[in-house]
Amino acid sequence: MKAYEIAEPKGIDSLQLVDRPIPKPKAKEVLVRVRATSLNYRDLVTVKGGAVTRGIRLPLVPLSDGAGEVVEVGNEVTRFKPGDRVAASFFQSWLTGPIEPAFFRSALGGAVDGMLAEYTALGEEGLVRIPDYMSFEEAATLPCAAVTSWNALVTAGHLTGGESVLVMGTGGVSIFALQFARMHGARVIATSSSDAKLGRLRELGASEVINYKTTPDWEIKVLEMTDNGGVDHVVEVGGAGTLAKSIRAAKLGGRISLIGLLAGGGQIDPMPILLKGITLQGIYVGSRTMFEQMNRAMEINRVHPVIDRVFPFSEAREAYRYLESGAHFGKICIAV
Ligand SMILES: NC(=O)c1ccc[n+]([C@@H]2O[C@H](COP(=O)([O-])OP(=O)(O)OC[C@H]3O[C@@H](n4cnc5c(N)ncnc54)[C@H](OP(=O)(O)O)[C@@H]3O)[C@@H](O)[C@H]2O)c1
Repeated sequence: MKAYEIAEPKGIDSLQLVDRPIPKPKAKEVLVRVRATSLNYRDLVTVKGGAVTRGIRLPLVPLSDGAGEVVEVGNEVTRFKPGDRVAASFFQSWLTGPIEPAFFRSALGGAVDGMLAEYTALGEEGLVRIPDYMSFEEAATLPCAAVTSWNALVTAGHLTGGESVLVMGTGGVSIFALQFARMHGARVIATSSSDAKLGRLRELGASEVINYKTTPDWEIKVLEMTDNGGVDHVVEVGGAGTLAKSIRAAKLGGRISLIGLLAGGGQIDPMPILLKGITLQGIYVGSRTMFEQMNRAMEINRVHPVIDRVFPFSEAREAYRYLESGAHFGKICIAV
């Protein structure tokens, strides 16, 4: 079978197309014919040899996100049969409950080989069924970005109708957060560096939009839009570079989910967190149970993931370059 490997993570050109034997599923494993994968910012960091690659075994098959069909099952498998349509869970061993250190060792495309291959053999517990109405490409976008947003807003965030949510930028995590917030009857304020993308955010249901490049004091704008009260939830993908503004934009007793680090460094004053009684919660993807709950909710609401482009398998490097450009809106997929 064909697979991509990173032997020495030194940039996008370190992705190499190789031949590997089709894996033979062990007793509790399922052989999946991968049909589509999707990219996350983390995959770019991985191929460049950033912090997430510390301690991983090389060569590595990259990407946490993928979906496909079951073609063979081990003799002790009970959850799946050939023909089932499945997606892989980001942390193969995080089934339910709170996060534990052991789960880190099961992260696909990080601690263990990921999905950018024609076939993969995974433990049956690490897979979820995908909704019938979704294409393989759509389902492939779910394991990392969607589950992270679901955990931030719903599982850990306890979002309810009528609340307000601030989403930042138009990457995978933020667009899923917008969709889940709308699904729960929440009001969404969304930001982007591009006016063209702001129009698309409105089409997806954002009631107010702000260009964070032309309005660098966007947190003041958020306060104006909320009668100086601030928002109930901030889906924070900028990290230290934007956190001070997010704290300002959050309401008294509001909640900020710390998810990403796109905006680089910055200084944080803890005083306003304390004075405003803000809950600052770190989010690291989520469990299989969260993934399954999210799929049920998406199915009931017929929510379609927003895919910007699907690249052919032979153009995996181009897909990474497109992600790097930041031109995308939502998710980027690679068909397999
Ligand atoms: N903790 C977790 O479990 C977890 C899971 C998934 C992702 N993440 C992290 O979350 C972040 C987003 O991931 P992603 O996969 O959604 O990334 P992505 O798809 O690459 O998103 C990139 C987009 O983010 C926006 N952006 C960039 N810099 C920004 C800034 N300073 N302020 C506001 N928006 C900015 C831009 O949107 P515009 O073009 O509209 O300006 C850009 O196009 C990354 O840091 C990633 O590592 C963490």
